[in-house]
Amino acid sequence: MPFLFLICCTGPAIAGPLLRKGWDNMKIAGIYFSGTGNTKYCVETFLRAFRESGPCCPLESPDAVQTISDHDVIVFGYPVYYSSLPTIVRDFIYQNAGVFHGKKVFLIATMGLFSGDGTGCAAKPLKKLGSDILGGLHVRMPDCIGDEKVLKKPLDQNRRIVREAAEKLREAAGRCRSGKPPQKGLGFLSYVAGLFGQRLWFFGKTKTYSDKVKIHADRCIGCGVCVKVCPMENLDLVGGKAATKNRCTLCYRCFSVCPKQAVTILGKTVYEQCRLEKYT
Ligand SMILES: Cc1cc2nc3c(=O)[nH]c(=O)nc-3n(C[C@H](O)[C@H](O)[C@H](O)COP(=O)(O)O)c2cc1C
Repeated sequence: MPFLFLICCTGPAIAGPLLRKGWDNMKIAGIYFSGTGNTKYCVETFLRAFRESGPCCPLESPDAVQTISDHDVIVFGYPVYYSSLPTIVRDFIYQNAGVFHGKKVFLIATMGLFSGDGTGCAAKPLKKLGSDILGGLHVRMPDCIGDEKVLKKPLDQNRRIVREAAEKLREAAGRCRSGKPPQKGLGFLSYVAGLFGQRLWFFGKTKTYSDKVKIHADRCIGCGVCVKVCPMENLDLVGGKAATKNRCTLCYRCFSVCPKQAVTILGKTVYEQCRLEKYT
């Protein structure tokens, strides 16, 4: 029986008996989108705590669709942007609508602070496409926006946040094993919190891809590292400098890896390049 397991946070425990009953025979895989490594870490940590085997791959990988197709339970993880799905995640779901039909999904949504219905954002379209949502988990992680000073925290605090996240993920895996998967973000109240807490004020921010990436030509050395890591193929080298094609999903990967701090996105100054490895 196909099972898709998505990672985010909130909701009713309807799937427990199903999970417990057939778990040993189910094929489980992790699929995630992760700009700076937070969500990758969360999905991998959850899967390790839950069970040892099963592939785990990024949704931009050529294997992602086949991996979903070949497995029963999918643990689906993504970061929350403005209490919404990143554009690349929303597009992935709709462009591969058929593969989700009949799958069981557990959602993991990562966030810097608050998302309301982070998991609900994917649960809604997936349910429409015929997935069975087993549950969801919201995980607080370091905020990946490194060019807004107000969002930056001391290193110690980010390290503590990651330790607490790992603990929460292990606990959630235990709850799933005992047939009571967490249901965070899936209920009506969470939806209201996401809508009024963020989506209304940031309306349309993730509706289309963004033109906000700025390459500071005076600092860019044309090394091409940003070009290689971009999941949208949004960057190219033109005349020895990085140039953008205005199809950015706002993941902050290019920003985080640039050796010369030559990229900014939402802010104007690089305060901290946030990559998960710094905090583990
Ligand atoms: C464009 C953008 C919008 C974000 N919006 C939110 C938000 O609404 N609430 C929140 O708590 N965190 C928000 N974050 C923080 C990320 O969700 C968080 O850092 C996440 O763990 C990053 O995961 P990743 O490293 O896997 O990409 C936002 C980050 C970005 C880049």
